[in-house]
Amino acid sequence: MKKRLRARAVSCANIALAKYWGKNDVTLNLPAVPSISLTLDGLVTETTVEFSPSFAADEVFLDGRPTTPGEAKRVVRMLDRVRADADLALCARVTSRNRFPTAAGLASSASGFAALAAASTHAAGLSPSSAYLSRLARWASASAGRSIYGGFVKLPAGVPGDDRNAAKQIADVDHWDVRIVVAVTAKGPKDTGSTDGMERSRETSPFYEAWVEAAPALCAKVERGIKKRDLELVGRAMEQSTMSFHACAFSSDPAIIYFAPATLAALATVRALRQKGVAVYATMDAGPHVKALCHAKDAARVRRALRETEGVLSTIVAKPGPGTTVS
Ligand code: DP6
Repeated sequence: MKKRLRARAVSCANIALAKYWGKNDVTLNLPAVPSISLTLDGLVTETTVEFSPSFAADEVFLDGRPTTPGEAKRVVRMLDRVRADADLALCARVTSRNRFPTAAGLASSASGFAALAAASTHAAGLSPSSAYLSRLARWASASAGRSIYGGFVKLPAGVPGDDRNAAKQIADVDHWDVRIVVAVTAKGPKDTGSTDGMERSRETSPFYEAWVEAAPALCAKVERGIKKRDLELVGRAMEQSTMSFHACAFSSDPAIIYFAPATLAALATVRALRQKGVAVYATMDAGPHVKALCHAKDAARVRRALRETEGVLSTIVAKPGPGTTVS
């Protein structure tokens, strides 16, 4: 069978409403806790992969510049796995662009590895199922396993030694008209990436085990809330999930502090809005930006309040987005 050799994929970022923090199998990259995310429209990575006998080595370009071997390591690891599955012995050129709003300050590894999984497998001539793509993306970066699907997506906790762990859609993109308002609070890359941060938490935080024990119930509340379109149920569980994982980060040795002063200011804005009767809840990932979840009708008001918050550099409003597509 003739192989297709070139493919392009587009993937959206996602934001966890129930957080993933910690692995129970580092080699297979299996999450120790279940997580649920919302795929975000407009925050996309576009990746093209081409395999060719004319390439002497794998080449990876990110946002127009060649990456260093260190940066390309996880990419090449995924290419190696795809080549093994497709029985292909050609080098690849990978070109990836983040089409995120300027100064989004958002992590792009989820959309990046989801797009890479889809583009590389199709370019290699495989006809992957969504479950296969989600497993492949999860193996590179667990949150990426969720960006294969649109709407609301759950990634169960892994079973150590079992590589089948993959995400599933729990409600589609039209299920619930909510918005995520992102308040960008700092420039530049974060000090501690999530992979290193969660390993340090597992090894040193006295709260880590309590987190792993508590996370499934919080995730179940988020899932119930999504099914019932109950923003208070989702929002409260999301905030507790967020603060519980940050408590692990704070209590690691050395401490991992993702908050900036403007993070706390933006959290205060969210609480003040709630006191005025607006249903809005906040979450933060392995970085200082605050992401506020609210109904579509309240998004403009939430955005205005966050924009006026001391230290907030910019804001972005995102709605539920589609899953990964290939062309
Ligand atoms: C805080 O998926 O980036 O954003 O699997 O090690 O690549 P690796 O970690 P990653 O972790 C994301 C952590 C988080 C919460 C979340 O998205 O669930």
